[in-house]
Amino acid sequence: MSASKAEVLAGLRAERELLNVIPTKRLFTDDPKRMDVFSRDACGLHVDFSKHRLRRSTLDLLLSWEDACGVGALRDKMFAGAEINESEDRAVLHTALRDQAQSPLSPGHARVMNEVMTVRANMRAFVTRLEAGQFAPSHAPIETVIHVGIGGSELGPKLLVDALPPRQNAPVTRFLANLDGTEYERAIAGADPRSTLVIAASKSFTTWETKANVEKLWAWLKAGGIDNPGAHIVALTAKPELAAKLGVPGEQIFPLWDWVGGRYSLWSAIGLPFAVHAGWDAFCELLQGAREMDEHFLTADAEHNLPILLGLIGAWYIHFHGAETQAVFAYDHRLAKLPSFLQQLDMESNGKGITKAGDPVEGSTGPIIWGGEGTLVQHAVMQLMHQSPRLVPADFIIARDPRHDHIDHHQGLIANCLAQSAALMNGRSLEETIALYPELAERPEIAAQRTYPGNKPSSTIVLDAFTPHHIGALLALYEHKVLVQSALWEINAFDQWGVELGKLAANDVHAALVSKGEATDFDRSTNALIAKLRRS
Ligand code: F6P
Repeated sequence: MSASKAEVLAGLRAERELLNVIPTKRLFTDDPKRMDVFSRDACGLHVDFSKHRLRRSTLDLLLSWEDACGVGALRDKMFAGAEINESEDRAVLHTALRDQAQSPLSPGHARVMNEVMTVRANMRAFVTRLEAGQFAPSHAPIETVIHVGIGGSELGPKLLVDALPPRQNAPVTRFLANLDGTEYERAIAGADPRSTLVIAASKSFTTWETKANVEKLWAWLKAGGIDNPGAHIVALTAKPELAAKLGVPGEQIFPLWDWVGGRYSLWSAIGLPFAVHAGWDAFCELLQGAREMDEHFLTADAEHNLPILLGLIGAWYIHFHGAETQAVFAYDHRLAKLPSFLQQLDMESNGKGITKAGDPVEGSTGPIIWGGEGTLVQHAVMQLMHQSPRLVPADFIIARDPRHDHIDHHQGLIANCLAQSAALMNGRSLEETIALYPELAERPEIAAQRTYPGNKPSSTIVLDAFTPHHIGALLALYEHKVLVQSALWEINAFDQWGVELGKLAANDVHAALVSKGEATDFDRSTNALIAKLRRS
């Protein structure tokens, strides 16, 4: 560690000690310009960072930290198409998927723009044919779409289909991810095979869950009187040869590439179910919003760069305050699936314990992401947020213009969203509690239980309007935040070796479970559980 970086880290530790005892609300009185220093606008998003345990000097030190860690250099290498995913020898170019051919953001994008545009054009042609009722393999217009995929091949499209309105006469989209008979039954319930499109989404086309579900649906189509089930299937994959082997016609295979990580793939062909659901224009708007965020990330100076600021603030709590988790509360029913999406994005990317140099990381890395929908969370988890000694930084998300007609309801949501973050920061002292409830003066033990410590940090992210454009910008913001934090911890955000061991073990356990003999290959606990769960 260079001396200057060591000094920066020491400076940040000193800031932490100080800010742990200064109530955050006092920082507003100390600095009348606080709102200018700690709020930013970009890409249709307003981000208020002012309720954090930060003052100007903290921000300066955090910016020196990111500078010393080479955040900008890693970002530039990513956009340039360098192989920053070293453990898999791959470039990381998901940003090219939302770029424009006429004016690519980087030479790295320019290199892959032709293939990106070809697949985009093919997707568009397919969506247009389907909309016009011309994609009708059994001479019936498509009424049901069953999207089969898991992890990055499901969470993004599922979030979007849930968040954004269907185009006129859009088919109903169902999602089938798990190796779970109940989920399968629900996915096919009431669907007519002749008017069903199956989307098989799998970058590797070898994922157990997806293969098993596609095979089952193949048989279901066949049993429904369809001689050539492949005609009802489109495949979204980086292994087109495997999809072709299954029997999917070539023109129904939409490729993606090694340089698109699964959890960064919703902008690729993996986004097809969203384009089918919301229409091609909505898909393009989504890409455009993300592209704006890419350009902002690439060009804005660190002080004004939303992903850099969000990344630094998150890391401030993890690295210096020992925070374990990060909450995400979207005050919008349409973003109910955002925490699950961000869980994979962040935890599969930065849930690492070894640096790129092969050393154990210092302290901890990416946060445990959790969250929920406001106001529902207020009736479930906010007790802990307000009174537990745990430190849980939170992101509150709300749209200014919800793009629906129930403005009365929306005002209520805004009020609750702002009230929660304010109450978390301001808290309520013993004196304030007794002033409000004088009868508690005689019962100090009860009064104490009705106090709120405050100083609970949060960011508020305001979308100008709830549109595909703003959702694109929001998701890209979180993607880039993950990259920023990976640079601070010197880890590779783009591989996921941690999921491999469990997958290998599952194959072995399955073989033992379906075999006749007694299981002896595992630890005694697992052997005994296999014996208990085996169907004789
Ligand atoms: O198990 C984790 C994972 O490898 C994710 O990274 C990925 O998004 C998911 O599985 C699905 O993989 P695929 O798209 O290859 O089916």
